[in-house]
Amino acid sequence: MHESKRKLKVLFASAEAAPFAKMGGLGDVSGALPASLLQNYKDELDIRTILPFHEVIKKLDPPMKKIGDYAFSASDQEIECQLFVSDIDGVPVYLVDNDYINHNSPVYHGDWYLDGLKYATFSLALLEAMRYLDWKIDILHANDWHTALAPYALKTTYQNDLFYQGIKTILSIHNLPYNGWGSQDAMARLGFVPSHDQDLPDWARFTPLPLGVASADKVIAVSPGYAREILTPEYGCGMEGYLQKHSNKVMGILNGIDVNIWDPETDEQISHNFSAEAFSERVNNKLDLQKALDFVVDENIPLLTIVSRLSDQKGIPAILETLPQLLDRDWQFLLLGSGSPELEQAADQLSAEHPDRIASILKYDEVISHVLYASGDIFLMPSLYEPCGLSQMFAMRYGNLPVATETGGLADSIIDFSRDPENATGFLYEDKTAEGFLRSLTLALDTFADPGTWHKLQKNAMEADFAWKKSAAKYYDVYKSL
Ligand code: ADP
Ligand code: GLC
Repeated sequence: MHESKRKLKVLFASAEAAPFAKMGGLGDVSGALPASLLQNYKDELDIRTILPFHEVIKKLDPPMKKIGDYAFSASDQEIECQLFVSDIDGVPVYLVDNDYINHNSPVYHGDWYLDGLKYATFSLALLEAMRYLDWKIDILHANDWHTALAPYALKTTYQNDLFYQGIKTILSIHNLPYNGWGSQDAMARLGFVPSHDQDLPDWARFTPLPLGVASADKVIAVSPGYAREILTPEYGCGMEGYLQKHSNKVMGILNGIDVNIWDPETDEQISHNFSAEAFSERVNNKLDLQKALDFVVDENIPLLTIVSRLSDQKGIPAILETLPQLLDRDWQFLLLGSGSPELEQAADQLSAEHPDRIASILKYDEVISHVLYASGDIFLMPSLYEPCGLSQMFAMRYGNLPVATETGGLADSIIDFSRDPENATGFLYEDKTAEGFLRSLTLALDTFADPGTWHKLQKNAMEADFAWKKSAAKYYDVYKSL
């Protein structure tokens, strides 16, 4: 009899994971990456995910079972937790509840103290859950500021705790500016102490994301481009000095997408399925949408689309400023997004001024997002920075060609028409102003007017390989190397 090979035990900790809880790309990644790792390395990996048991997950009520209750103390508090287990595509998903998590709880309160309490307790509760399960992990893979305090706690509070010896840690950075600032009171209440790491700037020694960056054995940005950018003052958010000095532990791995969910050939959310080979049906999605929006129904009018959080990061003002300057050209525009009240109002106003060609749907709606990806001709993504970006990948897979800034993961995933017309999958531009956007959009509109060239670009984009497999292999190599 031979002993079966020992599997690497990995806990993937995140605030979101689709389809249970998704507010943006973090949810897409945390739903799909562990599943892809499990699928491709099932004999080598025992990977499980852990999430806060958010209100939205309770409402969704996926099949699950309760494991039990456990408690731990943090400073002078006794934190009582309930642990459940469900699964996403075969990956066991633990759901942790306690008073701070289930406090009438949206995924993010938007109130720093409440979010601080929620995620600082979650970061401790996820470590304690491992003890309760008596599951000794090899690797903790944390994501963004929400779980960054878990690697920090392993290096401080739990440093001498025998149960946690030898755990290696990874912190994925999906969005550096969101560093958890404002959690300080909550952290102090839970007994966290400031770091003594002299390489960290003063402000960062008691801020979740920097503490995670300083504690983790590997820091992985969600694209190689963003990994380079965060070493510079423009993108480093004050952490560039630290990251430069410790650049040996910083790397970038481009996100993938779940090509089974995001497949125009089988997608049940769209009325007319299509593929690069069976392409002629695609246009019917657009014609249906034009009709529904009371726009002129004409396949030759380019339909511009965006699906986005409405935040400064996404460069929305460039769009709202530019479109009124382009009224002498034929196009229609549909925005799906929610977020900043100012941007929502500005989008609403623009639609009210041009109801015949501009419409805004100001909400988060997964089904409509599929329809937009499948119906649009040109997908707008004028981000000021973009750690990776998944929307442009969904758009390309559905033949909706991106006009995007040449930054982070956008530059890593889109092949620019001006540089490489043969292999192009979209349009990139460097100058992150409304003028830069206007020039790039104009080029895209001119190219759309040439159906032969446009169709070639669409085919390139739809055939590009954005599946997780390649990137999952890179994560697996990192796990092994640790
Ligand atoms: P970020 O995570 O910065 O928001 P990404 O491009 O990585 O950007 O991911 C955004 C994800 O959120 C995509 O899955 C996109 O389709 C989705 N999304 C954004 N806004 C909406 C919306 N209003 N309705 C539906 N889905 C949305
Ligand atoms: C963040 C980034 C986005 C990235 C996503 C998933 O929300 O803004 O660029 O795609 O995380 O990694």
